[in-house]
Amino acid sequence: MPRANIQLDRQAVIAPVRRRLFGSFVEHLGRCVYTGIYEPEHPSANEDGFRMDVVELVRELGSTTLRYPGGNFVSGFRWEDSVGPRDKRPVRRDLAWHSLESNQFGLDEFARWLKLTDSELMLAVNIATRGILPALDLLEYANHPSGTTLSDLRIANGSPEPHNVRMWCLGNEMDGPWQTGFMTADDYGKLAGRTAAAMKAADKDLELVACGSSGSGMPTFGDWERTVLEHAYDHVDYISCHAYYQEHDGDLGSFLASALDMDHFIDTVVATADHVGYKRRSSKKINISFDEWNIWYLEEHQASQEVNTEWRHAPRQLEDVYTVADAVVVGNLLMTLLKHSDRVTSASLAQLVNVLAPIMTEPGGPAWRQTTFYPFSITSRLASGEVIQPVIEAPVYDTARHGEAPVVDAVATVDEDRAAVFLVNRDLEEPAQITIDVRGLGSSQIAEAITLADSDVYAKNTLAEQDRVTPAANTSAALADGVLTIELPPVSWTAIALH
Ligand code: AHR
Repeated sequence: MPRANIQLDRQAVIAPVRRRLFGSFVEHLGRCVYTGIYEPEHPSANEDGFRMDVVELVRELGSTTLRYPGGNFVSGFRWEDSVGPRDKRPVRRDLAWHSLESNQFGLDEFARWLKLTDSELMLAVNIATRGILPALDLLEYANHPSGTTLSDLRIANGSPEPHNVRMWCLGNEMDGPWQTGFMTADDYGKLAGRTAAAMKAADKDLELVACGSSGSGMPTFGDWERTVLEHAYDHVDYISCHAYYQEHDGDLGSFLASALDMDHFIDTVVATADHVGYKRRSSKKINISFDEWNIWYLEEHQASQEVNTEWRHAPRQLEDVYTVADAVVVGNLLMTLLKHSDRVTSASLAQLVNVLAPIMTEPGGPAWRQTTFYPFSITSRLASGEVIQPVIEAPVYDTARHGEAPVVDAVATVDEDRAAVFLVNRDLEEPAQITIDVRGLGSSQIAEAITLADSDVYAKNTLAEQDRVTPAANTSAALADGVLTIELPPVSWTAIALH
């Protein structure tokens, strides 16, 4: 049985727990919006047509900041189409996902929906195919209190209060040839810098995100970030990272170690951003908005040629059904984001409902939690205060994709009156015996210990079996004389809350 020793010291603070790390993403893609969060005919719908069964699950998920409305969708989007009287809103073709957009749900509806879920709105603007003036118009419509044409239009449209959007993404994945209006790093960096300067002339306190690479595998990765920031450094606050993981060719060991790739990705982007900053003799630091991360069985989607040949509204797209192993990796990726919360200060699980999502729905039917829902919701609930860097002594194993990987990974958070430890066991066969020295946290009592695991690591929650996989109390956890011991099943994710 693998054994691991973990030391936790209250002084080893990385950074505060950033609530924005528990963000997610709502794109006009597939059924994320239509029959996901908005379905006027659904039995649970409120007077606005919002599915209240989904609202309840989103609240339980504990997502904080929600990125909207795309994604690739945003690069063909005219925001004006999505506001005002519904019967006047145009139906458009969405080239990104080859489907129809009815615009029956738009910015004002989303802002109203966010109030029900206590979430913050993070907007993406289309600078790929539109440009600076439409971005400024959207900013005026969304944030100006009143007394201008566009703010008064928002008021006339039923939103008297400004939406007060703080975080704005300047386009999406602009390095990707699949992106409508994709650009070179030079062209994008110049445009992002100019757009950011203009937006900050309207409101200097905005937090603006320049697009980083669509993934660390892009041929331009590294150079893209450097070039974009050389143009836009003074005007933007964040550079984005996007990463999707999946199990390749049955190599579960490598998949379970995906967090190592995310870790390396973040370190590389931070180093690149700081390089540009040092060269400019700037004291400003650019942080990371990890505004798309998740598991995505992209290879299977590509192989199945799942392309809409017809123009349909809200077709089923990217409805990945997640396994126990996927949930363990999601939990581990979230731990990695926490460990980098000195520089990764915002992140979005992509996405929220139906599309690569922790929450699934059936039109006219139920809503349920995918396996990945649990590590996200439990971490969001328990992590508070400051993130602590653990010292971990654990055996390692070889992976084809990431080299040597520790069998056990962990991170902790500590607040005034409580602490939490999050753990994964990546071993495919064996439980891991863990000893954690918590004397440095001053913790004396276990409040709860919860583990997600299953004898079938590919077990899933489905419409037919919505609660096939749920977390359970880990009864092996014990705390005596400042030493916590716990056994972690193979391929498992665990959270321990301490008083
Ligand atoms: O989240 C799905 C898609 O993945 C997004 O639209 C795009 O930004 C990324 O490629």
